[in-house]
Amino acid sequence: MCRRSPVALFVALCASQLGMWAAGRSKVNPRIITAPQGAKEYVFPRSEKYPVFYHNENSSAIYIGGEGKLYYYDFATYENHTEDFPVKNEGQCMMPGSLEDNKNYLTLVEKYGDGMLVCGTGACAPTCWNLTQRKERTSWDGRGIAPFTPDSNTLVVVDGHDIYSTIKKSQQNGKIPRFRRVRGGGELYTSDTVMQNPQFVKATTLRHEEPHQDKIYYFFREDNPDKSPEAPRNISRVAQLCKEDKGGTSSLSASKWTTFLKASLICVDPVTKGNFNWLQDVFFVPASNWRHSKVYGLFTNTWGSSAVCVYSFGDIDNVFRTSRLKGYNGPNPEIKPGQCVSSGQHTPSETFKIADSHPEVEDRVEPLSPTKSPLFHNKHRYQKIGVHEVSAGDGRRYNVLYLATDKGSIHKIVELPDGVQNIMELQVFPKKDPIQSMILDHKRAVLYIGSTDKVVEIPMDMCRVYRNNCDSCLLARDPYCGWFNGSCQSVYLNREVRQNLNLEPWQGKCQNGDIKEDDFQTITVVPFSRYYLNCPIESHYATYNWYHNNSLIKTCNTTHPQQDCFHFIQNVSHIHYGRYVCVSEEDGFRQALVKEHLVNQLRFMSQKGQATVTFGSWLQLLLMVVLVELFH
Ligand SMILES: *[C@@H]1O[C@H](CO)[C@@H](O)[C@H](O)[C@H]1NC(C)=O
Ligand SMILES: *[C@@H]1O[C@H](CO)[C@@H](O)[C@H](O)[C@H]1NC(C)=O
Ligand SMILES: *[C@@H]1O[C@H](CO)[C@@H](O)[C@H](O)[C@H]1NC(C)=O
Ligand SMILES: *[C@@H]1O[C@H](CO)[C@@H](O)[C@H](O)[C@H]1NC(C)=O
Ligand SMILES: *[C@@H]1O[C@H](CO)[C@@H](O)[C@H](O)[C@H]1NC(C)=O
Ligand SMILES: *[C@@H]1O[C@H](CO)[C@@H](O)[C@H](O)[C@H]1NC(C)=O
Ligand SMILES: *[C@@H]1O[C@H](CO)[C@@H](O)[C@H](O)[C@H]1NC(C)=O
Ligand SMILES: *[C@@H]1O[C@H](CO)[C@@H](O)[C@H](O)[C@H]1NC(C)=O
Repeated sequence: MCRRSPVALFVALCASQLGMWAAGRSKVNPRIITAPQGAKEYVFPRSEKYPVFYHNENSSAIYIGGEGKLYYYDFATYENHTEDFPVKNEGQCMMPGSLEDNKNYLTLVEKYGDGMLVCGTGACAPTCWNLTQRKERTSWDGRGIAPFTPDSNTLVVVDGHDIYSTIKKSQQNGKIPRFRRVRGGGELYTSDTVMQNPQFVKATTLRHEEPHQDKIYYFFREDNPDKSPEAPRNISRVAQLCKEDKGGTSSLSASKWTTFLKASLICVDPVTKGNFNWLQDVFFVPASNWRHSKVYGLFTNTWGSSAVCVYSFGDIDNVFRTSRLKGYNGPNPEIKPGQCVSSGQHTPSETFKIADSHPEVEDRVEPLSPTKSPLFHNKHRYQKIGVHEVSAGDGRRYNVLYLATDKGSIHKIVELPDGVQNIMELQVFPKKDPIQSMILDHKRAVLYIGSTDKVVEIPMDMCRVYRNNCDSCLLARDPYCGWFNGSCQSVYLNREVRQNLNLEPWQGKCQNGDIKEDDFQTITVVPFSRYYLNCPIESHYATYNWYHNNSLIKTCNTTHPQQDCFHFIQNVSHIHYGRYVCVSEEDGFRQALVKEHLVNQLRFMSQKGQATVTFGSWLQLLLMVVLVELFH
């Protein structure tokens, strides 16, 4: 069951019998993550081409919508069932291209009211079903909430009784995508001129202090109006709408949002001037004060690199409130474009007319101060982002980013005081299987990773992937894990764990008196002898460092190819005693490979001698003590 990682140079830590891979980025000790701590999986009864996933926070269950089926699985109880949603009346697909889609693909599974809302294409006749606890089921016309055929450029946001959607309501006309409110407080849609060929990414609603200021934000890409050859063809945007928007006052504008504004999202590396213009995914991190709520934007560029830029809703709101409108030089009306009006009122038509013809603000939304630059960027082509905030042993909160690659794996990246660190690569699926979905359960600290065949539940606190010694546990700098009572443990099991997330040296924390000798190998060495410290080189992509007491004394890397990383002591004297640790580091993944405690043989013996002193050894001991004192 336990295979080698497809990434030739990294031997994965093989996770349970599920074929899941935690590539520890190291050739060291592949270790099996045992079932209780490891991942669990649910394999669908059959493969699903367009699966959709729903998970209710703090539960252990998942729903998967497939073709004509809704699967339910509880990872804690193994309870599982399947419900059928067959096509009625042989389907409505007429157009030649859509005949193969003459099936009911479920496209939405959400909590709605007291029950669940399930919607599907209904074979070109979009349909929704209300599911109640008592398994009753009522179906209704789902046009505008489910597409006619499976379509990736769709967003549906269920917020209480309101449903927002980017799905067109008719199969023939309506080529221009719109952002609509389709259920709840009256139907509204965006003007066809305010976006150019939009590709929607994600949307959220955000409560402000006063209810009439509550907003909807959505993130999308569109064609860049700047057609100059050096300008990128696509541009990333954020748009705002007021939740209580009542539409316009004239018959032409009555069904249009009157509070729409859009702004550019900037993600540029100031050092290389590299522009990450292609918004791939976003993740919202709420805060008690909405201004401090954050947006983690995942961007890619034409060269296949990725960057993460972080924005605050306070900054976004500021841009929309204070910026001039692009191309508008006239006077500002009393109610400014984009301003939410008090409950029950309409935006004045004068304000709407200006906003409708100048929907873009001039100022751009920049990443958080002070750096206004990406959190990081690298050469991976990430597809999805998730952020989890973990309370570590020091009482501080750390953000951990989960990034899904295009090769079936997840990178776990931590924001630490000295920058971000990529601490783990989890090969969840074979490289060729794309990750369709990544859901974070913040309360239970688990991830649900979905493909077209299965869902895997993975705990965020996988502490046994690290070598079980104090130094490796601390060097990993994993905020979920720390050293306690002789093992690398989860902070959720024990808050008192020892960790090294700040900038202090880690060694001191592993040598506190209460840990007796920890796991150092004690080696007695006589003075004036030669001694080799030897660290095996296991990966040619790693750097190896020897530390003595707390200081770096030797670095080895492949620029000097050799079998092992030696440190040679020509003539051992008292300064050479103490603790030596060899640390390997590869792509930020660090572990302690060799740990030796060199002690003076004579002193060591004299200490032991005191305990077991016999009459016959008195003379010998006396001689030793004299010798030891001579060396100091
Ligand atoms: C999560 O669910 C458990 C019961 O399953 C409950 O005891 C706990 O309070 C819940 N936690 C939160 C934060 O809602
Ligand atoms: C589904 O439930 C049945 C019992 O109802 C159980 O025997 C079976 O193992 C479960 N399937 C999975 C994949 O856990
Ligand atoms: C479905 O549920 C929603 C919310 O509870 C309700 O407003 C709607 O009337 C229901 N539709 C049907 C057909 O029962
Ligand atoms: C830009 O958008 C167009 C469609 O609008 C798309 O075909 C093209 O691939 C995009 N370019 C990049 C670099 O993603
Ligand atoms: C420490 O671990 C041992 C077993 O390794 C266990 O018996 C003991 O209860 C643990 N102590 C604490 C304080 O957790
Ligand atoms: C080792 O050092 C001591 C004093 O520091 C010196 O007396 C001795 O000759 C040295 N031994 C060798 C082999 O160099
Ligand atoms: C290799 O080590 C040298 C110093 O010994 C350092 O300057 C160089 O950057 C290292 N190379 C890599 C690839 O780590
Ligand atoms: C390292 O520590 C040992 C004992 O703790 C001490 O004897 C030795 O002199 C120290 N060496 C250095 C270079 O700090």
